[in-house]
Amino acid sequence: MNSKKYMIDLFSGCGGLSHGFEQAGFECILGIDYDQPALDTFAHNHPHAQAIKLDLSSEESIQRIVKEVGKKNIDLIVAGPPCQGFSLTGTRNENDKRNTLFYSVFKLAAIVKPKYIIIENVPGIATLYQGKARKAILEEFDKLGYTCSEKLLYAPDYGIPQIRKRMFFVGVLGEDVFEFPSATHDKSNYVTCEQAISDLPSLKDDLGREITDYSCEPSSEYQKIMRDGADRLYNHVGTSHTDLVVSVIKQVPEGGNHKDLPEGVGTSRKFNEAWTRYHSQKPSKTIDTGHRNHFHYRWHRVPTARENARLQSFPDRFHFVGPKTQQYKQIGNAVPPMLGYVLGKKILELDASNS
Ligand SMILES: C[S@@+](CC[C@H](N)C(=O)[O-])C[C@H]1O[C@@H](n2cnc3c(N)ncnc32)[C@H](O)[C@@H]1O
Repeated sequence: MNSKKYMIDLFSGCGGLSHGFEQAGFECILGIDYDQPALDTFAHNHPHAQAIKLDLSSEESIQRIVKEVGKKNIDLIVAGPPCQGFSLTGTRNENDKRNTLFYSVFKLAAIVKPKYIIIENVPGIATLYQGKARKAILEEFDKLGYTCSEKLLYAPDYGIPQIRKRMFFVGVLGEDVFEFPSATHDKSNYVTCEQAISDLPSLKDDLGREITDYSCEPSSEYQKIMRDGADRLYNHVGTSHTDLVVSVIKQVPEGGNHKDLPEGVGTSRKFNEAWTRYHSQKPSKTIDTGHRNHFHYRWHRVPTARENARLQSFPDRFHFVGPKTQQYKQIGNAVPPMLGYVLGKKILELDASNS
């Protein structure tokens, strides 16, 4: 009997979420997105999977996926759809393509009938449109016969060195109730920026060049996990800033931002996250898609794509393909693989208890 657990990743991006599930023991057979550069990275890192470029708002795309699945038994569908998928008015206009994005997950699930469905989104989904978005998700799960559990997960609680909150809905076909994994960390032992990236070369004299050699041994448990299976570095290219930018960021203390600058310095950027320097002894701020407002806790430059990937818990053996702007975008859009891992392990536990 085939004991493999097959999954599909909808709105896969580069595949951060499904990478975590694969590490837990699932095999991702399909990744679907309409962004080709993200799919290129997905394909590079998911050798068993097919990466297919499709617009998930269309009915034809759903039919195409059904055809690809064929007779394969799908255990899990994971999906991180963008949250514009609900109309502000609450009256769903079937002709507005964006309105069908969430529903595409359920349209596919109604045909493929996976045992488990996971929908991930920003925390705001719970309150979006006066809670209508959340209610609609719960109703869809119910209609298809799934029991849904929901929870806001805080990444540092699971050993991820980054402040990031994400909402998860986990549906189980039938009556079983999914229990979310317990936190493994708390304030007293959150993984810090230093523990996450201090072993990566500073690039002080190598800005703009790809550095592929590790210059030292890992110095934390987290670094050891991240370097497992990697013998050289990828995506570690330092940005060369103007003298003005360097002179400003030099004046921001660890954990500080534009509010810590002397009068008249750095006035070109004043918004909330402007001139933010990470704190070496704390998790990082939420990794963005490359806005260049976050700086390394020690070096006077923005973090490299690899440093951001580390803070997102992507192991070093996961490579991002394409230009730097695409790498930053894919990393910032991703769900930390470690969150996928802990959820995947919990689903496999539940599955084992039933077989
Ligand atoms: C938040 S990102 C997903 C990140 C991914 N779950 C990960 O962990 O790496 C959302 C993705 O949805 C894709 N997307 C948005 N609208 C889409 C559509 N209509 N059809 C297919 N993909 C779409 C975007 O290109 C983006 O990659």
